Amino acid sequence: MTHSIEIKNFDDYLRVYAFSLENNEQFWSEVANTRISWRKTWDQVSQCDYHTGKISWYLGAELNVAENCVDRHIQAGRGNKKALIWVGNEVGEEKIYTYQQVYEEVCRVAHALESLGIKKGDRVGIYLPNIPELAFSMLACARIGAIHSVIFGGFSAHSIQSRMNDCGAKLIITSNGVYRGDKWIDLKSNVDEALTSGCPTIEKVLVVPHRSQPKWELQPLDLNWNEVVKPFTPHIAPSHSSEDPLFILYTSGSTGKPKGVLHTMGGYIVYTSYSHQLVFQPQEKDVYFCTADLGWITGHSYLLYGPLANGVTTVMYEGVPQHPTPSRLWEITDQHSVNIFYTAPTAIRILASLGDAPVVKTSRKSLRTLGTVGEPINPEAWRWYSSVVGEDRCPIVDTWWQTETGGILISPLSGITPTQPGSATLPLPGIEPKIFTEAGKTLEGEGQGALVIARSWPGQMRGVYGDSEKFFDTYLKQYPEHYFTGDGAKRDAANYYWILGRMDDVIKISGHRLGTAEIESACIIHSDVVESAAIGVHDDLTGESLHLFVVLKSNVAKTPEISKGLIQLIRKEVGALATPKKIHFVPGLPKTRSGKIMRRILKKLAVREFNDLGDTSTLAEPGVVELIKQAVMGEN
Ligand code: PRX
Repeated sequence: MTHSIEIKNFDDYLRVYAFSLENNEQFWSEVANTRISWRKTWDQVSQCDYHTGKISWYLGAELNVAENCVDRHIQAGRGNKKALIWVGNEVGEEKIYTYQQVYEEVCRVAHALESLGIKKGDRVGIYLPNIPELAFSMLACARIGAIHSVIFGGFSAHSIQSRMNDCGAKLIITSNGVYRGDKWIDLKSNVDEALTSGCPTIEKVLVVPHRSQPKWELQPLDLNWNEVVKPFTPHIAPSHSSEDPLFILYTSGSTGKPKGVLHTMGGYIVYTSYSHQLVFQPQEKDVYFCTADLGWITGHSYLLYGPLANGVTTVMYEGVPQHPTPSRLWEITDQHSVNIFYTAPTAIRILASLGDAPVVKTSRKSLRTLGTVGEPINPEAWRWYSSVVGEDRCPIVDTWWQTETGGILISPLSGITPTQPGSATLPLPGIEPKIFTEAGKTLEGEGQGALVIARSWPGQMRGVYGDSEKFFDTYLKQYPEHYFTGDGAKRDAANYYWILGRMDDVIKISGHRLGTAEIESACIIHSDVVESAAIGVHDDLTGESLHLFVVLKSNVAKTPEISKGLIQLIRKEVGALATPKKIHFVPGLPKTRSGKIMRRILKKLAVREFNDLGDTSTLAEPGVVELIKQAVMGEN
């Protein structure tokens, strides 16, 4: 028997939410039936075991994700509807593709991949700017069953190398480079450098000539996209199993090198379609603009897969918010009559800091819903977004989720959930968050602690690529039978959630996720460095900024050259996003007796809050704090 899971108002939400937890399998079965077209339906809705970390959804079902995002809309008569509006870095540059045209492009790339010997299950690395070829490459991989692993263009040659080797990619797709604002970023030479350092599994490099200049240096494995991607012929989409891998996306954790988060086909596309519809409430004629880069999970789930699965017109922007002026995002909004706009708190804060004038000179009358993601949004930024950008008529959806969750788990539903500045409000139906105390007890009602999710949902990651133990050890071990998010959260009397930020050693700079361990491993390569500690310090614009505490060898004095060398090293090993804002040279680091760095103390010292260091009784050498304080006070 079917049960209405349609949500039109807040009472519906409360009713459907209760139903979703009481009849969990029936709920997810109805969601999957209404949102996705299946070649073969499932034998079992789910089989999820938080004791072993084995998660499966829609077992035995078959589908093709690319067909769901493209072909079925053409079959439903929407072939001439705009699917993708691409806006380039420079004003006036744009390309518009209908669903029919996206279909043709995806077929062309699918044939090209097959002609290069790429088969189902092969890994394809993609290091491209935010251009249509990136979207087509991802969908073409999904179509043939190859597993894509997109690397954001801000990552370095070393990061490309480690990711490609970790997943054993056969092919990498890249381009000569990209302008971000006024800055040319030479992507191709990063790939060349990665290959020179050693990527033994890569057989070919497919190069998209994105702009005619500058030309790139031809390497032995290079192939030109324009020669390999042939004119359109139809491509027959094969059936894939619901649990076949769709993509791997690397993300930083609190320890070691970035992990390859694995998502699979059926559950991911059900969840991104479901959550996109529910949170943003898109209507048939809507234009939807997510400012993310496809290199991040927000781009995967809510620029590409979710909106296209829902047949929405999605806008993809290559550039940065202030180029050439801070009005750019609102000019794009006006030009394409954008109804739903989704961005990050850092972008909102930067634009707010430049005043209202660049916003109010634009119309924005088409806007109906405004979204935010990636880091906590402070109430002032929320209010500015709501009143200046949205003229107090657009609901703000503060969407909380992670690379690992595949899609939004806690968020207002646009126009349905009453909002509060700074709160992600309530869980989506099917999602059961809980808060645990430090002692490992569940909190009922109001309180604050570790945010966990009590049961699985279809968009949940399935594992860490190539490491069968890591998923369980990282996410399921700490709070038995619960998924630990790594975030702290507060729940208020109305059951609203307020995300407090990471509880682990993950730093969020402009919403980009970095692990302290990867930055510290880069520093240690410097021949003058004994050890270092990376910490995130509050920053009014970027949320957090990176501070480094560095201990030099005893016979080495600090110099501007050492600072410069360290910055270069980190940029080379991790990427430009990890550039430290401040380097503090100190005689030692505060550690516990078991050798763990007490970052909590360093965070206070970095901002010169010397009188408020908290409990220092567990320090192995309490005297080191005074020495660090002296060093920090001596900085100019
Ligand atoms: O700390 C939370 C923060 O971003 C982390 C996930 O980062 P990433 O995997 O890069 O995914 C970002 C895009 C989904 C979370 O653990 N975060 C994400 N959204 C919010 C947030 N913090 C507060 N409020 C949010 N809306």
